[in-house]
Order: sequence, then structure tokens, then C-alpha cells
Amino acid sequence: MKKGKMPVEPYKIKSVEPIHKPSAKERERIIQDAGLNIFNIPGEKIFIDLLTDSGTSAMSHNQWAGMMRGDESYAGSQSYFRFEKSVQRISGFKHVIPTHQGRAAERILFQVLLRKGDYVPNNIHFDTTQANVKVREAYPVNLVVDEAYNPSVQSPFKGNMDVNKLRRFIQEKGKENIPLVMMTITNNSGGGQPVSMANIREVSQICREAGIPFFFDACRFAENVYFIKKREKGYGQKSLLNIAREMFSYVQGVTMSAKKDALVNIGGFIALQDDDLVQKIKNILIISEGFPTYGGLAGRDMEAISAGLDEVIEEEYLKHRIQQVHYLGKLLQEAGIPLYKPVGGHAVYILADQFLPHIPRHQFPGWALTVALYRESGIRAVEIGGVMFAFTDPQTGKKVFPPLEMVRLAIPRRVYTASHLHYVAEALEKIYKKRDKIKGLKIAYEPPYLRHFTVRMKELT
Ligand code: F0G
Repeated sequence: MKKGKMPVEPYKIKSVEPIHKPSAKERERIIQDAGLNIFNIPGEKIFIDLLTDSGTSAMSHNQWAGMMRGDESYAGSQSYFRFEKSVQRISGFKHVIPTHQGRAAERILFQVLLRKGDYVPNNIHFDTTQANVKVREAYPVNLVVDEAYNPSVQSPFKGNMDVNKLRRFIQEKGKENIPLVMMTITNNSGGGQPVSMANIREVSQICREAGIPFFFDACRFAENVYFIKKREKGYGQKSLLNIAREMFSYVQGVTMSAKKDALVNIGGFIALQDDDLVQKIKNILIISEGFPTYGGLAGRDMEAISAGLDEVIEEEYLKHRIQQVHYLGKLLQEAGIPLYKPVGGHAVYILADQFLPHIPRHQFPGWALTVALYRESGIRAVEIGGVMFAFTDPQTGKKVFPPLEMVRLAIPRRVYTASHLHYVAEALEKIYKKRDKIKGLKIAYEPPYLRHFTVRMKELT
């Protein structure tokens, strides 16, 4: 395999966590015991874990130092005020409400804003925002540009919302039935693709004209900022901080999972301008998360988020981060492995149905590839395809599969080096060469909700 240009890590390693690769025999026993479901494998039995980039970041010395400074006062903790200042520096929002993670922020915001039967457009909802909309008996709607579903189109901002679809949707459903429009930056469920500033501006304009609040699902905002700087005309010379500030100036608020671009292991927040809305949010926060100056977090967690937000918007950090993900993409492409293109911000997505064309969708090629990857090499990746998203249409009784059948290799931030990535690419290349030996699967057990977490599978002979 060609080595290509390897991005040099802009950090050195101060603390290490040993990892072990179980033997081939052990891996076989482990994956069988797990019912062929990688979620059932204990973490210590994973050699390289690309399950998620969420909550898996390595923290910096400054973040660890901040942890020691954590002020655990129930009310008015100094750590809260430092956290608030860091969020305000990047986003410009007046109010900052801590939550224990992203989905808590979503739940609370939707509890305040949504009524039964409302609609919430997004480019593509992540599964937790989708679920939190549905819990309110409202409807999540995905209005991403069509090219997002075409994995071979090399266009720079495939996370964009289709503004014509949005205009039509508002007209059709009525603005009074749309309490907010959301936009996920970057678009996790659509290949981790960024959204352009021009698109954000246009959506913002449409929402303003209709009087509908516009919010970001901002987990990976810094990665989105970097893509705007690199790809969008007029932004090359602007600072990352200024681009972030401009981006946030077009929305009324954000929900944020700090487990991604705040470089921490737990945490989240809501940030917004509106004085009335914040009061309603705080009332719910107190019942379910905690007092508004800690909201489900320890003081030390807020210190880590505060330092992480300062670090994530640094050019050196982001350049390496994006290059590292793209480097893995390049290695896989050189090996001929079919990928979603272009490679996104936090993960490389393999097109599993093209990787395993002999396995039909109803035999779950994506899932079969995650099993093969663990078997071959002890690597854990996640299926984003038929097991996660297929459903039975209540009207026709037919199975509906999602447009794309993918396996996501999510790269934890500051955790793995280039040699780990080489190992991943080599493992996939080996599997690709013997792909016709991989078998389809059938479901042996499935729960009623979110079946991917606990499903058990059997291999077809
Ligand atoms: N929104 C997006 C776009 C996400 O990717 C996630 C989490 C959330 C919201 C929820 O945040 O986990 O802090 O409650 N994504 C993780 C992933 C789980 O693996 O992609 P949370």
C-alpha cells in the first residue's frame, strides 16, 4: 500500500492507554458470543475502536488541568462562568444552558417548542433529534439537497438544505405548524458533509421571512467552519473564529453535543438569544437536568468543555483533524474500496452494498461488513444502513430500506496515529480481496426500538 502524504500530529503523547488485539480464535468466540453485534463486544476486546467520534476524544493537558480547577458549587460555580464565556466567544449567544449531553438539549428545547402534529425540517435529522421530535408526536422532515443521496457526486457542500424544498414545505404545511427549522452541521447522517455559509444565510433568510426560529444541531460546528474556510469563496483569508461567529449569527440558537467538537467525554448545551425562551428552558432544566449553572454536569466537566472549545477552533488542530480523516479515505480509495464521496469531516463512510454486491439489502451487507472487520482485525465500526434505519411501511406492509447502505469509520479526535490508520486500511484491503466469502445475515432477535443496539444475528449458509 502506498503511504502518500501523512499528516503530522500537532501534539505529543503524555498519557497512554494500552490496547490489545485478541487472537483470531478469541475474536471468533467473542463475535459469536456477541450475537454478531459489535455493540455487544466489551471495549477491552476491541483493538481499534471506530464506533464513534462521540465522547471518545483525548483531552489536552489544559483540559485536565481545568478538571482540577473545577468548582463544584451547586449554584454560581466559577466553572460555569468560564464555560459560558467560551461558548459566548465562539457563538455570540447571550444565554448558555449546560446539559448532560446533546440529546438532553434536544429534548428540553423540543419540550418547550413542539406541539402534537408540528413539523421540524432539518437537512437530515440525526437519530436522537428524530426520536426527540417523534416523542412530542411531531414530524421530523429531511430536506437535504438531492445530491446528498448520490455518493459519487464530488461536490463541496453536500450537507446543504434544498432551499426550494424548504420554501415549498413551509407553504404547504403553513408556518404556524413549523415551530423551528434545524440544520445539522456537519450532516452526520449524510456522510458527515458540510453546509456552506451561503446555504446557511439563505435558509436563515427564508426562516426570518416566515417568522420561524432557525437552530443548529452544532455538534461538529468547528469541522464545518474549516470546510467553509477551505472550500467557500471569500472565506480563505478569514479566521476560523470569525467564520464561526458569522455562522452562528444566522441562527437563533443551537443544541450542542460537546462530546464531539468540544473535545470532551461528556456534556452538551443549549445556547440562544431569546430571553423568554430561555426562561422556559430553565424551568424544565431544573426539573430534569439540574440548576442552570450546572445542568447535569460537574464543574470539572464545564472546565474541560471551556478549554476544549478554545482548542477546537485552532487552525493547526483542525487542519490535522480533517487531513487525518481524509488520509484514511485516500488509503481506502487507493485500495479500490467504494466510499461515499467526498470524504466528510469526522468519518469515512464505506458503501457496503457496493463492497459486498453479492449480499442483497435484506441480508444486511453493511452489518456483515462490520462483523467481517472485527473478525479480520479487531476493529469496530458501525453500520448505518438497513439494520439501523429500515422500517415496515404501515400502509403497504413492505420493508423500506434507507437510500444508502454504509459502514461508518468514525475517527475519535486526537486518539489514533497514522500507523493505526494504516492498520485499518490494510485490514479493509485484505477483506476486500476476499469479499465474496462474506455471507449475508438474518435476524435472530430484534427489540421493538433502536434495534441496532441489541439485535442478534445469524449467518446464512
Ligand atoms: N446530533 C448529532 C448530529 C449527533 O451526531 C449526535 C450524536 C447527537 C445529536 C446526540 O448527541 O450523543 O451527546 O446525546 N452522535 C453520536 C454518533 C452518538 O456516534 O454519531 P449525544
